[in-house]
Amino acid sequence: MYNSIIKGTGYYVPENIVTNDDLSKIMDTSDEWIQERTGIQQRHFATKGKDTTTNMGVRAAEMAIAKANINKEDIDFLIFATLSPDYYFPGCGVLAQKELGLNTIGALDIRNQCSGFVYALSVADQFIKTGMYKNILVIASETQSPALDLTTRGRNMAVLFGDGAGAVILSRTEEVGKGILSSHLHSEGAYAEELAIITPGVGKKWVTELIKENNPEDISYFPHMNGQFVFKNAVVRFSEVIVEGLKHNNLTEKEIDLFIPHQANLRISQFIQQKFKLSDEKVFNNIQKYGNTTAASIAIALAEAVEQKRIKENDLVLLAAFGSGFTWGSVVIRW
Ligand code: ACO
Repeated sequence: MYNSIIKGTGYYVPENIVTNDDLSKIMDTSDEWIQERTGIQQRHFATKGKDTTTNMGVRAAEMAIAKANINKEDIDFLIFATLSPDYYFPGCGVLAQKELGLNTIGALDIRNQCSGFVYALSVADQFIKTGMYKNILVIASETQSPALDLTTRGRNMAVLFGDGAGAVILSRTEEVGKGILSSHLHSEGAYAEELAIITPGVGKKWVTELIKENNPEDISYFPHMNGQFVFKNAVVRFSEVIVEGLKHNNLTEKEIDLFIPHQANLRISQFIQQKFKLSDEKVFNNIQKYGNTTAASIAIALAEAVEQKRIKENDLVLLAAFGSGFTWGSVVIRW
């Protein structure tokens, strides 16, 4: 069996910055409300005709490939995580494969929302551990802004989310005790509708029916979230899956060098930080700048943490996510 190490990281966020004050001009909200409840100060929104989920992911990937110091030809598989694909089908995996000119390597799409990057890393790790692939490109990218209800009606969701992308190159190593030590994945479909976009979908209502009904009261194509229920579940599941990852490796929270949580809400991250008694320098947060970028959030945060030299060789890095599905998971890494 081999191990997988993160050899290169990259990220990309669109140029267009939208502040809380910008949002308060188009809906009944305030900088104070948003910062107090979520910690978010601004987010980046994609520009139509310029930024897409695929091309932002490709820009992040190009940075990760350069940092990994490998040739594109060395990449033998691609995994793309997103809940906001450019097309209904096919997924962004094949579109990124084409844009990057990655010959005819396999491209897999992951649909696990805020846990998408953790799921993607775990899948990539299994392919490397078994020896099937040597270098896997993992991309996580989201263009969520076009799907938000940017009016007072949708303010509980609209203020939370942003657009952007992150990527890593995961590579084979024969060094023991290095790289991804373990990953832990969970889901609870009983709560699928607590955080979801229900239509258009072939299950409930397809586009043709929405058009035929032409019902302005129907908001099923906007994201819906039972905020307090999500919050309560998030803090419990985050905690469980962190403990699971540590226990599996006979580690304690004291040994964590950097914890990178999915950037869902600064209050959730602070709750976890306090629970595990982690000092400020051991927790990486950037939700203040980017909002919640769903699958991309940990990938962007990881790339920024590397860029800011917050991670050193041999550090214990813990990634954890919770989100729509519900899905949650953790990845324990010896850097
Ligand atoms: N600006 C101003 N007022 C608002 C806004 C807004 N953007 N949104 C909601 N309100 C109002 C509501 O209408 C409500 O008013 P009322 O009391 O007159 O009815 C009041 O604020 C409180 O609304 P709640 O929804 O109860 O607010 P809450 O304190 O629960 O905070 C929040 C909302 C921040 C979304 C919280 O529930 C939360 O953090 N949930 C966790 C979920 C999360 O972070 N999701 C991110 C995506 S999922 C994920 O990544 C895991």
